[in-house]
Amino acid sequence: MNRARIDALQKCFPECVVECVDEHGSFCRKIDVGLLKQTLDSFLSSQGATTCSELYEFTWQGKKAAKLNAVSETTKILSPERKESVFWERTGNIYVEGENLDALKLLRSVFDGKIKVVYIDPPYNTGSDLVYGDDFRVSCKKWKETNNKRLTTVEAWNLSEQGRIHSVWCSMFYSRVIVARELLADDGVMLVSIDDREMGNASKILDEVFGESMHLATFVWETKTGAKGIPPTSMCVKNHEYILAYGKSPSFRFRGERREEAEGFSNPDGDPRGPWKRQYLQRFGQGFQKRNVVDPETGVVYSFETPYTEAKMRRLVQDKRIIFPTEPNRYPVRKEFFSEYSNPDKPVLTSLGLFSTKVGSEELKKLFNGVKVFDYPKPLRLMVELLRKTIGQKGVVLDFFSGSGTTAHAVMTLNAEDGGDRRFICIQRPEKCEPNSAAFKAGFKTVSEIGRERLRLAGRKILEERTDAGRTPDVGFRVYKVMEQPEKS
Ligand SMILES: C[S@@+](CC[C@H](N)C(=O)[O-])C[C@H]1O[C@@H](n2cnc3c(N)ncnc32)[C@H](O)[C@@H]1O
Repeated sequence: MNRARIDALQKCFPECVVECVDEHGSFCRKIDVGLLKQTLDSFLSSQGATTCSELYEFTWQGKKAAKLNAVSETTKILSPERKESVFWERTGNIYVEGENLDALKLLRSVFDGKIKVVYIDPPYNTGSDLVYGDDFRVSCKKWKETNNKRLTTVEAWNLSEQGRIHSVWCSMFYSRVIVARELLADDGVMLVSIDDREMGNASKILDEVFGESMHLATFVWETKTGAKGIPPTSMCVKNHEYILAYGKSPSFRFRGERREEAEGFSNPDGDPRGPWKRQYLQRFGQGFQKRNVVDPETGVVYSFETPYTEAKMRRLVQDKRIIFPTEPNRYPVRKEFFSEYSNPDKPVLTSLGLFSTKVGSEELKKLFNGVKVFDYPKPLRLMVELLRKTIGQKGVVLDFFSGSGTTAHAVMTLNAEDGGDRRFICIQRPEKCEPNSAAFKAGFKTVSEIGRERLRLAGRKILEERTDAGRTPDVGFRVYKVMEQPEKS
């Protein structure tokens, strides 16, 4: 268990933290689990809580093990690889090659609570043969062998011919999300790309780890405009994906475009409070009560359904915030001042529009001299847009399923466009390229080699295409590899 978690428990249950001696003979703290259970049990019984046989919960076989996997320490280390790095001495970016759960645990000692944006595009469990593994299904036979048990009827029903479809994916996702949340800053956000296959499971897991109230938005973006080829039997073609957004605490705010003062606001009467716009007071057919408001100059009483109380409307009248109509059969409106908007930005919309995946693939192919090195990279402009909406000029962006490196490319691009000083951390395991793949034939043995090469090519292009003489964008990265600890001699 890491220090932050022990600190959190010590805050609530100081009596359950005991001192002990570690393997080096130094004093350390540990949770007395028995004492903690006793304390919780007595609290629950004092509240009159009894054990329930039916609870609202989302579970699957392997969930407990996945949780343990998340909280256990790793024995691996990060080994610096200067030769594969770019501008080692002056870069703030990091590229980690290795299994992401180990890498996330290793990053904790430096980045706990420091990451502003975690973006992930995990394998969608399509069962397709892609450059990277995307099949988490397990056959009944294999499942029985590895779990050494007979399947219950419900499980067998759930499995179909192919065997277990979602459990392994859920376990993989769950343990990584638990660790990733710890790395997030309090005002940070986690963004998860997903499609219909695992959307429901991903939402349930994120709800559990972050808390339902921390679900900020589900963005939707269009992947294509037309439906080519033979249509599916349902005659409905999916052309969108989702991005789930969760905050670590309520302090996260999306960043909309700057609102132009003039846009929708004006000041025709020279009100000293500045520009304003008309806002309806009445809301018909929404179940609000009918209220009266009196024009102080004419004595005319207006009566309509509104969420405002009569007292509130009287205050608005006194404050000269209500404009009464000059024509009959019209209703009064209220003045809404621009200065009342505590956030000067426009709010962001959950529908992001079209970001063609085909364009994303072509962009990458062009960068690699016409060779298709990766299947379905995310479109660069989608990633730039997401960053614009979620991070200011500074901060660290983490992508632990980094694939071809679109997120890191987007960080460098946005910095070059707006002079920002954002950093990235990419994690990608050295997934082997198939010998018959275009990537392998072009000399790439692993997906992480492809990712690093993309960042080198993209960085070079960004420096070449720079037109302003401002700050040089950081297009370097330090490479670390997740390794076994060297044997003690
Ligand atoms: C859907 S792709 C990400 C694509 C990426 N967004 C892009 O635009 O190129 C998922 C990536 O995660 C990698 N991956 C899957 N499981 C992983 C793990 N346990 N540790 C590290 N990388 C992993 C795969 O090799 C693959 O490259």
